Amino acid sequence: MAHIFLPSIDVVSKLPKGIDLLILGLVNSENASVLVGGLSNDKANNELLNFAISLGAKPKTSSVTLLPNPSGSHTIVVGLGDYENNPEDLRKAVGNAIKKAAELPSDKGLKLAISLDIHKDSALQAALEGAVLGSYEYAKPAQKQTVKIQKISLLANNVNKSIVNKAEIIANAVCQAREWVNTPPNLLYPQSFAEAAKQHLAKTKVSVEILDEKALAKGGYGGILAVGNGSARKPRLVRMSYAPRGAKKHLALVGKGITFDSGGLDIKPADGMYTMKCDMAGAAAVIAAIKAIAELGLKIKVTGYASMAENMPSGEAYRPSDVLTMYGGKTVENANTDAEGRLVMADALARAGEDNPDLIVDIATLTGACMIALGNRTAGLMASDDETAQMLLAATKTSGEAFWHLPITQDIKDGLDSKVADIRSSGTTRYGGALTAGAFLWRFVPEDIPWGHLDIAGPAFNEGSGFDYVAPGGTGYGVRSLIALAEKMSS
Ligand code: BES
Ligand code: ZN
Ligand code: ZN
Repeated sequence: MAHIFLPSIDVVSKLPKGIDLLILGLVNSENASVLVGGLSNDKANNELLNFAISLGAKPKTSSVTLLPNPSGSHTIVVGLGDYENNPEDLRKAVGNAIKKAAELPSDKGLKLAISLDIHKDSALQAALEGAVLGSYEYAKPAQKQTVKIQKISLLANNVNKSIVNKAEIIANAVCQAREWVNTPPNLLYPQSFAEAAKQHLAKTKVSVEILDEKALAKGGYGGILAVGNGSARKPRLVRMSYAPRGAKKHLALVGKGITFDSGGLDIKPADGMYTMKCDMAGAAAVIAAIKAIAELGLKIKVTGYASMAENMPSGEAYRPSDVLTMYGGKTVENANTDAEGRLVMADALARAGEDNPDLIVDIATLTGACMIALGNRTAGLMASDDETAQMLLAATKTSGEAFWHLPITQDIKDGLDSKVADIRSSGTTRYGGALTAGAFLWRFVPEDIPWGHLDIAGPAFNEGSGFDYVAPGGTGYGVRSLIALAEKMSS
């Protein structure tokens, strides 16, 4: 699998020599634009500020202004928004500045410095994350990457070294999830994905167990097997366990890993199918997050499940109206073969319940309906109870990722009644499809275990051009929130 190229990052107290570009900030203070992070010479700073403003620089995070200096190092002035109160604005601003810098020509890789007058730990973390995330780009398979940005130095004094380490671990995890999502589905399929997960976790304190199609059949994983059977690439369930000494809580994470979703016999139209290599983004998030949690040494037990299958039509494919016996024995009337995600998730949720964790959180590119409801920059969040929902929302807020709480109401639950099985996989109406999927999953979670469900169908994949710290393709959505959740539960 291709390699991820990221610049080296360091934090320094003085502007290093030999940099190609300096990034400074712009904020609004008492209705005037003010430079942030400028160097000691007031006159030079003032000239710079006026030049930037004359070129249209604004304090909003999407404003990035390059001040060319053909003979020396360039300067970028980036709007910082409300960065003092909102670290996500800083993450976005730095990401935007890095993206702009990457447009500059360079044959041997650019050296950048960022000076933004950073003091708080949360700001330091956000700026560093923005720098790494903004640098990521998917390299064509087998391409020798020409490094665009070689080194980024962030100016800050008396920094907490553990924050620097933490930011790098988190940002690398997000980039790894993006990389898996971006890998084309002929190269990333259940077996290769499971092996990649194992390799990724090899040198960590996370143990990995892979159930292949034989083990899945033996264990009675009827959902994963049914979905995976139409494909020549057979399904896998990856179970990951991180159990540090001294852990008081146990968190289970379950991710949807459909390496390609053609829709199956209920085949998708071409337009909707093209981006469906992203349908394993939930599994990617779980694998990347559990590695980061272990590297951060968080004192919490985490068990991860990545449910991997390829949803294809064939003579061996499962059918609409099939009745499946799921892991744990419940029967499901399959309403539509394109509602495959909930089936692979249901088996893994039932299995996760057997570990008796304090909380189960699943993450999945589950429904187009969630995308219709919330667009492609906000994910849906559902939960077994309000307290769990609030706790999850608080974690997503710390991470800077946008989630919105949706309800699972009684009428939606009733819509899943079946005449031929314990439950139908989807309702008879498309309205509220995100909630229906949530209601279905909930049925596979033991009643006494709190549960949260993250539907990332919208924000997992960026079909447009890059924005903020996000490149085209996989976004790594959810990774930061899962890590923040583990951190919250462990403290
Ligand atoms: N993988 C899709 C959901 C999806 C859509 C993810 C767009 C990302 C972007 C999922 O498996 C699916 O096809 N869901 C169906 C369910 C329906 C058949 C009940 C949907 O949302 O239309
Ligand atoms: Zn589908
Ligand atoms: Zn799907």
